[in-house]
Amino acid sequence: MEIILQPDAAAAALLVARVIAREIRRKPNLVLGLATGRTMEAVYAHLARLHRAEGVSFAACRTFNLDEYIGLPPEHPASYRQYMNRHLFSKVDIDLKNTHLPDGTAPDLQAECLRYERWIVECGGIDLQLLGIGRAGHIGFNEPMSALRSRTRDKTLMRSTLEQNAAMFGGEPDQVPHRAITMGVGTILESRRCLLLATGQEKADIIAKALEGPITSRVTASALQLHPHCTVVVDHAAAAHLEEVEYYRWIFESEPEWHNFKEN
Ligand code: GLP
Repeated sequence: MEIILQPDAAAAALLVARVIAREIRRKPNLVLGLATGRTMEAVYAHLARLHRAEGVSFAACRTFNLDEYIGLPPEHPASYRQYMNRHLFSKVDIDLKNTHLPDGTAPDLQAECLRYERWIVECGGIDLQLLGIGRAGHIGFNEPMSALRSRTRDKTLMRSTLEQNAAMFGGEPDQVPHRAITMGVGTILESRRCLLLATGQEKADIIAKALEGPITSRVTASALQLHPHCTVVVDHAAAAHLEEVEYYRWIFESEPEWHNFKEN
């Protein structure tokens, strides 16, 4: 795992967008794993700008989102399908046929989860998986105690997750669907590269646990310590409780991959 420190949330989001843009330029038919949440909005805004200003093309990309609420039709404004349409898909040249989210209205959820896993494999596996982190340490909707080898499945959400995500449901946690389909921790660990972005002081505690604490299903993001190629980008606020910050700064200074990213 490599941890990259950036001065603030804007610089961190820009760095993540530039990594994604570079990977798309290297491999135009990239299979991209996508995440939702407020943190990602700035990343998608940068990708839309890079598409307009620098011609980064999503035309041959395939995308797989981490998760979707159960029971919300894709046209519901709070569905993750609508989130993706709003923040990214409508702003770039992606073919909607190549964008995939689990179907939270499927009559047979188990069959839908199997179908999603199969589809990822048929597309050749995920090249680059973008990740945020929930305050309880979840990646996707893998709430505490999710098996670290879990696959795409339906999951009951924690009360704190409902509270965090209530804004899109009129501020009412009880209006947030209580269940979701999510890629499993095992599914995420199979992607070729993971790129996690966390910003803001409210993530500082959980980032320290996930990155420098023990690997435990209580904090499912800690499983990323097992991933052979995982980059975590944090701003200073989210890095506030990390212990090895001097080394992380040194990584950004020293690793050839980051030489072209310094002018942020
Ligand atoms: C939701 C998503 C997660 C995301 C998290 C963080 O719970 N399912 O994938 O990481 O939100 O959200 P935010 O960026 O708003 O803190």
